[in-house]
Amino acid sequence: MMPRSPGAPTPGPAETPTYTRTVTESERVALRPEILSLASYRQGTAASSDAFKLSSNENPFEPITAVLDAISSASINRYPDGSALEVRLRLAARNGVPVESVHVGAGSVALIAQLIQAAAGPGDEVVYAWRSFEAYPSLVTVAGATRVEVPIDPVDGTHDLEAMAAAITDRTRVVIVCTPNNPTGTIVTEAEFARFMDSVPPTVLVLLDEAYAEFVTDPAAVSGIPSLDSYPNLVVLRTFSKAYGLAGLRFGYAIGSPYILDAARATAIPLSVIEQAQRAAIAALDHEEVLMERVSRLTVLRDRVWSALSDQGFRVPEPQGNFVWLATGAHTAEAAAIFLRHGVVVRALGEDGLRVTIGEVQSVDRLLTAAEEVLRTLPTPEPLARLD
Ligand SMILES: Cc1ncc(COP(=O)(O)O)c(C=O)c1O
Repeated sequence: MMPRSPGAPTPGPAETPTYTRTVTESERVALRPEILSLASYRQGTAASSDAFKLSSNENPFEPITAVLDAISSASINRYPDGSALEVRLRLAARNGVPVESVHVGAGSVALIAQLIQAAAGPGDEVVYAWRSFEAYPSLVTVAGATRVEVPIDPVDGTHDLEAMAAAITDRTRVVIVCTPNNPTGTIVTEAEFARFMDSVPPTVLVLLDEAYAEFVTDPAAVSGIPSLDSYPNLVVLRTFSKAYGLAGLRFGYAIGSPYILDAARATAIPLSVIEQAQRAAIAALDHEEVLMERVSRLTVLRDRVWSALSDQGFRVPEPQGNFVWLATGAHTAEAAAIFLRHGVVVRALGEDGLRVTIGEVQSVDRLLTAAEEVLRTLPTPEPLARLD
């Protein structure tokens, strides 16, 4: 314990609260109305100790020893390397791109925020599919730009890329394509993506969000990095949160033209990628084979769950991430409650459906029992919920 200097006040909680003043209407400061109406980011519900948390698309495996060692060797009293040079060099070598084409952030969500802010402000539009990643709407609003949400295909949950291309106007600055799409798990194929990119004006920034790329097993899926040569307006986003199991350390990266990444960097909160995250990412790259073997175990489990749900009578879009989508529509809240009763915490998304992460192997029996009860007890089939 640190010795206290004589006469120093005792640290610790005050016995009675010292700040209890409530603010009257006339005392309120002026805040941006669009921010006031924004709901803050909703995290997956925490699970009780006997429940499985399948609500945040996290990786169920414990960190490998090399990652734990790397974290514990990082310094804490010093600021991290703001240029993250060592890990960027590793990522550049791994992906066959120059180091100037790699930018890192505290999670890929931070990078998406930076890229939107770099390209779009008040009066500008950002086009994305909906439903997609829950953070997109608020990231656009925080930048001061206007959201343009293009509905996903109501039957198969895929991006409607033709409609997205048609939604581009003179005011569009950014288009986000998410593949596999969170929450429907569907991919954009290479051919679809090429057709789409050919119809996007070269002055519009396209963000290809590949947070779940490592889980993709469909050979037809687009892979962003090889597409960069053809499309100078493209930036690809990847993360260490999912396949690499580092969600808690916050580390993601973007690959694209250096001048776009420099603009993104200019909007970033300095030094937010901590040294532990940089070192852990390097250790994860050193042991990528072990981590990818875990990923393939998860994809095998995913396909098993998918086929069991289909056998039960659900119509689930082919999942290519580490999660499955049950379009429970108006019955989403009731369906989530059924899962919870079976000890499975899932992500309920409005009145659209449930996203269920593929997690611990032990969670699968409960997941399937709950799904069977959902199908048996809830009325009115929704478009995606049942096979006819
Ligand atoms: C599609 C998509 N993009 C980006 C992210 C952000 O991931 P992170 O900020 O942890 O890298 C997520 C996380 O769930 C996601 O689902």
